[in-house]
Amino acid sequence: MRLYADTADRSAAEGLLATGLFAGVTTNPTILRRAGSGVDDIPAIYRWATESGAREVFFQAWGEDTETLVERGRELRGLGDEVVVKLVASRAGTAACARLAADGVPTLLTAVYDPGQAMVAAAAGATYIAPYLRRLIAAGRDGHGDVLAMHELLAATGSGTKVLLASIPDVPSMVALARHGVDCFTMAPAIAEQFFADELTAEAVRTFEDAVAGTP
Ligand code: G3P
Repeated sequence: MRLYADTADRSAAEGLLATGLFAGVTTNPTILRRAGSGVDDIPAIYRWATESGAREVFFQAWGEDTETLVERGRELRGLGDEVVVKLVASRAGTAACARLAADGVPTLLTAVYDPGQAMVAAAAGATYIAPYLRRLIAAGRDGHGDVLAMHELLAATGSGTKVLLASIPDVPSMVALARHGVDCFTMAPAIAEQFFADELTAEAVRTFEDAVAGTP
């Protein structure tokens, strides 16, 4: 199981990485902007994330044509071995993914909405695909069914490409897909906190602590 923090907010990401439960941090330009950062801050984000224990840090290449994306992808990977280069699953992005993957660069194709895109991602040699579950559902599609189809076709064909689920609405959605073998998830910090919010567990903590305090 690999869990990731889908944020560029330093204190939120560091808090999750400090638990030892999160393998890394995923970003995109929107996530950078939400944290008050931009692409110029990518080297600094890479530094604090890896210093906080991230084993993979995902940065998205930007630009509209394959050449630009490949060049930016190489620059991003040049930051260090923990970088995974994200590319949008457009024609240009998928072609750039194939070029970078052929050079041994770990890649993730993002904004994946259709199981057919999982096929071309596998042909490109992508390390991961990131379907957007919440946005699939919001668009009226069968989000869980489509993600499952992606996972199944990759597993059935023996592809090395893995589903890394993104745009996650809640923990039960992850549980439902994990039951079918999906094992990589990137989530907003607020969703991650749901893992630690069970009321009965909180009550058990209080009961055990009270028992310790009451021990003669
Ligand atoms: O990494 C996925 C993210 O950019 C989209 O997530 O929650 O805004 O749909 P969300």
